[in-house]
Amino acid sequence: MELTTIKMEIEEPLGLVTIHRPDKLNALNSAVRQELMNAVDELAQRDEVRVAILSGAGPKAFVAGADVSEFASRTPGEQRALYDRRRVYDALADFPKPLICAVHGYCLGGGSELALACDLRVADRTARFSQAEIRLGLIPGAGGTQRLARLVGPGQAMRLALTGDMIDAEEAYRIGLVEFLVDEGEHLVRARELAERMARWSPVALRLAKRSIRATMETPLSAGLELEKELFLAAFSSEDGREGVQAFVDKRDPEFKGR
Ligand code: COA
Repeated sequence: MELTTIKMEIEEPLGLVTIHRPDKLNALNSAVRQELMNAVDELAQRDEVRVAILSGAGPKAFVAGADVSEFASRTPGEQRALYDRRRVYDALADFPKPLICAVHGYCLGGGSELALACDLRVADRTARFSQAEIRLGLIPGAGGTQRLARLVGPGQAMRLALTGDMIDAEEAYRIGLVEFLVDEGEHLVRARELAERMARWSPVALRLAKRSIRATMETPLSAGLELEKELFLAAFSSEDGREGVQAFVDKRDPEFKGR
């Protein structure tokens, strides 16, 4: 797979995806979106990859938003056609393994929406967030009203989407937009530590736990609890589930195989 705007590395058990357009602050153009989708599809298939991390290259930004110059030349019909296709944000949200976003610098508009589509966010102290679309006469169109409101609550989502204000990492942490706030330059190191802690566990259990928690965005509690029960039973019936329980009884470390 040829990649020109992103980098993908596998350092078992981790898959590392870096958006690599630093001269444009990693702004999301069509190539980045397509290549990101290709990369996560590839990482989904690779059994040796148990957890993935998404980050941005260069000193200034995770992602400074959608590529505004592409917006300028696109007709409404073309924009709709793009929306009708598979979208990178959904590809990230549906990625069947844990996906951690490591954020530094600008994380604006579509960049913030990429972070929202990941499972966890680790931000260093340089991170700056905004849903800046309102400044362009637009609204967030890729989760910045929906996933954002579900993560930080409708009040904070209103405040961010209606003002377009930029908030710093400390405030993003305070309102729950990121789960980890770390020292400058430590975002990738800490994301890796987190990923490695998860990667010890059964890939089956990781996948099922992620699916169950993601379902809370779509389902009422009773339906969610039903789903959780079924997914628990799937974990319970998996080889890894049997192995984990047996290893505990035998007082040894489990050997999870992803089955
Ligand atoms: N789309 C396209 N190009 C972008 C971009 C975006 N969202 N964000 C930055 N770039 C480009 C700049 O045009 C510039 O390119 P050039 O060197 O060819 O002129 C390059 O990235 C560096 O950005 P620059 O503006 O010089 O950096 P800065 O440090 O002075 O300012 C920002 C940083 C983030 C404040 C500023 O780039 C900005 O406002 N970007 C747009 C943010 C935005 O509106 N995002 C989309 C919301 S929907």
